[in-house]
Amino acid sequence: MPKALITGITGQDGSYLAEFLLARGYDVVGMLRRSSTVNFERIDHIQNDITLAPGDLIDGASMVQVLREHEPDEVYNLAAQSFVQTSFGQAVLTGETTALGVTRLLDAIRMVNPDIRFYQASSSEMFGKVHEVPQKEDTPFHPRSPYGVAKVYGHWITVNYRESYDMHASSGILFNHESPRRGLEFVTRKITDAAARIKLGMQNEVRLGNLDAQRDWGFAGDYVEAMWMMLQQEVPDDYVICMGETHSVREFCQLAFGALDLDWEKYVVIDPAFYRPAEVDLLIGDRTKANEKLGWEPKTSFEELVRMMVEADLKALQG
Ligand code: NAP
Ligand code: GDD
Repeated sequence: MPKALITGITGQDGSYLAEFLLARGYDVVGMLRRSSTVNFERIDHIQNDITLAPGDLIDGASMVQVLREHEPDEVYNLAAQSFVQTSFGQAVLTGETTALGVTRLLDAIRMVNPDIRFYQASSSEMFGKVHEVPQKEDTPFHPRSPYGVAKVYGHWITVNYRESYDMHASSGILFNHESPRRGLEFVTRKITDAAARIKLGMQNEVRLGNLDAQRDWGFAGDYVEAMWMMLQQEVPDDYVICMGETHSVREFCQLAFGALDLDWEKYVVIDPAFYRPAEVDLLIGDRTKANEKLGWEPKTSFEELVRMMVEADLKALQG
């Protein structure tokens, strides 16, 4: 039975990837950082099928310990301080986890077993102020946030360890992917949760920032398959994973409120508190390489994703 270690198992992607690997017969170990309250909302339903191991991206020795004890064949590094807005206020912390954390984990792998296959969660946020449209693997990076800068570091250190030490280390440059398990601070889930609350009379408005920002949004459940596919290749490489279409935040509002027969313009209030010091205006990816080399294709359309999220929020709030 192959064994996989997932960092960030309690996050959106960690939970979907764990389900995906369990269904393929993997023994799944999830690295968990210490917190004063239990944070298993997304993995409650699979808790008995996985093993949890204490460790933190800030602490290299803890990851050496996890690798020694559990001896995984594959490591998926999904842990990060992943919220762009927070990275402006906590730039150093973001660098410690999202950037240097990658090096600590790669070093731990080198020390314990350099044959472990490694996946790094790179991000379309690295393209930032985009140098070409659509963005592909060789599009230059121009990050616009401390988070984006940290991800560029994590990306290049992965490439560097692959080239320096012949490690099977791959990066997935994933564009925004969402789901009913998305954190409430991200714009899509903030909108679908608010729309459901407004429909049920629990809330009167939702305050948002830049409605003109455009993102290439897909379904997280589809994207985790691409992570696994990358580690099954003979040769490690980097791949853009995206839908190849872009939509504005305004359009997301229209669809989400529309799914509940609500007029979004009556409820959305612009609040500059949600503007960012520097913005990523437009993201749209080109997944040709992933399609040709991995055979990966998304299964869920943008419209299906919005509806899925709205329906899940409505159902959860209705109890
Ligand atoms: P998420 O829901 O925010 O999950 C982040 C995970 O990282 C959580 O499990 C969190 O643990 C863990 N974590 C944070 N700091 C840690 C530390 N110091 N040590 C150990 N674990 C730590 O993120 P996601 O949406 O699943 O994204 C997964 C990865 O893909 C992230 O690296 C993200 O930056 C990247 N990415 C995401 C997208 C996207 O659209 N979702 C796109 C491109 C790249 P707690 O539960 O304890 O907080
Ligand atoms: N969060 C948030 N809240 N964003 C808002 C709001 C709001 O009230 N109003 C407008 N936006 C805009 C942001 O300014 C941004 O342009 C866009 O909505 C998307 O914001 P987020 O949902 O926070 O995601 P993100 O694109 O910044 O980052 C996500 O995607 C990256 C991949 O491109 C995160 O998942 C990152 O971890 C990931 O790497």
